[in-house]
Formats: sequence, C-alpha cells, structure tokens
Amino acid sequence: MHLLPEEERVLAGEYGETRQKMMEILVALGTVFGAARLVPIRSAQVSGASYKTIGDAGLEWLSGLDARVSVPTVLNPVGMDRIAWREMGIMPAFAKKQEEVIAAYSRLGIRLECTCTPYYIFQTRYGEHLAWSESSAVSYANSVIGARTNREGGPGALAAAVIGKTPEYGLHLVGERKPQVHIRVEGDGSRDDVAWYGALGYLAGKLAGNRIPFFTGIRPRRDQLKALGAAMAASGAVALYHVAGITPEARVFSYEVGDIEQIPVTAGEVAALWNEIPIDAVALGCPHCSPDELSLLASLLAGKRVKIPVYIFAARKVIEASREAVAVIERSGARVFADTCMVVSPAMEQFGTIMVNSGKAFSYVPDMCGAAVRIGTTAECIRVATQEAVT
Ligand code: F3S
Repeated sequence: MHLLPEEERVLAGEYGETRQKMMEILVALGTVFGAARLVPIRSAQVSGASYKTIGDAGLEWLSGLDARVSVPTVLNPVGMDRIAWREMGIMPAFAKKQEEVIAAYSRLGIRLECTCTPYYIFQTRYGEHLAWSESSAVSYANSVIGARTNREGGPGALAAAVIGKTPEYGLHLVGERKPQVHIRVEGDGSRDDVAWYGALGYLAGKLAGNRIPFFTGIRPRRDQLKALGAAMAASGAVALYHVAGITPEARVFSYEVGDIEQIPVTAGEVAALWNEIPIDAVALGCPHCSPDELSLLASLLAGKRVKIPVYIFAARKVIEASREAVAVIERSGARVFADTCMVVSPAMEQFGTIMVNSGKAFSYVPDMCGAAVRIGTTAECIRVATQEAVT
C-alpha cells in the first residue's frame, strides 16, 4: 500500500507510540485486503464499547492508549444507560467497569454518544468515506445514504478515527458495490411496520450470506430500510443492499440485475416467522429508535399501563429531542433508556421470553440474552405488553 510521506512518519513513530500502533493496524488491514492507499474519512463509530463484550482484556488495551481522534467519532452502545443504570438492574461492579471503559474512550476524544444510529448524530452524505463498526449502522450508511464504509472491527475503526483515514478497499470502491443476488419479494403482507421488514431481512440475510442483494417488490420507508438492513447484517453478513426505486445507488446498478442469481421470497414465508409464545418482557429499539418511532410508541401507549416490563432504546440525543413522546411513553410504565441496548446490556438476561419488533433482535436475543424470542409488529408488542386483546 502506498503511503504519503506524512503517513510514513506516523508509521515510523514520529507522532508517538499510539499513533504508530494505529497506523500499523491500518497498514496491516490495507495490505491484507489489497488497498492501494488510505482515504480520508468523515466520521468513525467504534464498537467494542460494552464491558459485557470486551471484558478486562479490552479495558486494559484501551487504558494503555495515548492519542486523540482526528474526526468526529461516537461509540457503539455500551452495557448500560450511563445515568439510569440502577433502574436497569445493573450491578454496581459492572457499572464501575463500564465507566472505566467509557473513561478510556473519552480520553481519546470520542464523543460519549453511545449508539448504533450515528446517522441521527452526524450529518452523513452520499459518497463520503466513513469507518463505522456496528453492522446495522454500516448497512444504513452504505445502503440508505450511499456513503461508503466497510464493516470495521473495533480496533480498525479506532485506528481510522485516530489517523483520520482508512484503507481504500471493499465498499470504499464503486466497483465493489454492485448487486450480487436479486431478491424478488412476492405476495402481499402487512408491510406497514418495521417488524415485517425486519422479518424479511432475517430471511433475506440467510439467503444472501455476504453477497449484496438487489430487492424488487418492496417499497420500504426510512425506518423500514433500517430494520431490513439491520436484520440482514445479523442473519447474514450483508453490509450493503439496494432496493429498486428507493435506495440511492439502485439506479446506478439496475443494469447489472439481469445477470445475477434470482431468489424469490414470499410474504407467506415472512409471516411464518410470527409466533404466539407467552412473553415476560418487550424490548424495542434495535436499531435504536428514530424520533418517528418514539412518536409512534407514544401514540400507541398514550393513556395505557404496561403489565410487563417494556424497555425501549434510543440515542440520548434522539431522546432529548423527543421529550414529549418520551414523557407519554414513560407515563405508561414503559422505560426509555439511552447509551445501551437489549443485546449489549446484561439487563435483559433476567427474562425467559422477550418480544421484539426487530429482525436483528430476533436473530441475536436467543444467544446474547439466553431468552426465547417472539417477533411481532410494534402495535402487537404494545398490545401484548398492555394485555389488550389482539385483533
Ligand atoms: Fe443496535 Fe444493539 Fe440492535 S447495537 S442494532 S440495538 S443489537
């Protein structure tokens, strides 16, 4: 990989040991993946932020770093709401370790927005290069916005954040963004909820694997695209997809679609994922809720009381900008938490069965929380939580 003279000096250690280490990570990645050079990035999002996932070894590595990030950078969700962790049932020993992890990232200059929806925090534009880690955020950036990022591991994203550049390979190159499998969605279904698109994504991710899907037969809105991409990144390894007539690069690549494998998915197959098992708790906001999703939840919960725990997750900035909706939600007894989520926090491990409206959570909850999982629309989740008859 070709390095500029300034980049060579960083690699030689002229700007300190941490920057040297970070440049070594980028050079190693670029060499393995055949990058020709480094490209400047607009922002970074760093995973490996929950003490539940990185443990003491990760904390020790982070604590030894001494540099500052050079582009706007946020963290992935951590293991607890930084303010309301006691209400989540988090143990003080875990909270202490989690705060140490957060403090280590803060010393590096990372903004303590802990979210998988950095696109609600940073203005992110078509064609910009990024170094984001969390799979649903990567999918949204690439597919819905048309920005360019590989799915970075935690150290790769942190290295890119400190250096302000990332190796130019994979999804940073236009030629690597072509569709590789055509998923033709057939039949009618209740397509007006994120859960339907999450369930479709759960199936499509298994079919696509690590290929780039091109969808026809659907017309998802923004939050539904978010749900579709998040689920495909979880059940498969999809970091970019196109939807005919909807996503920004679909038109650019539509001429490719005639030559690739075609796979039909029917609305009946999507509906077959719905089940009726009794549940202990509801968890919503995977990926973190948008302002529109918080408004919808407020309208569904207005004047009602929940009979079982309902946990809702969103970025702190989104929660602060949606104060009225959050107040209505919390009057019902449901709780809205920031900084964390149902998967990376140990809080959900106390429940045997969890209901979600997310294909990604449907995929992850059994292994990550040790709970049985049920998927339903947002309205169904609220009906079950308030124990109203489901019509
Ligand atoms: Fe986000 Fe956690 Fe889901 S990181 S996408 S809410 S598993």
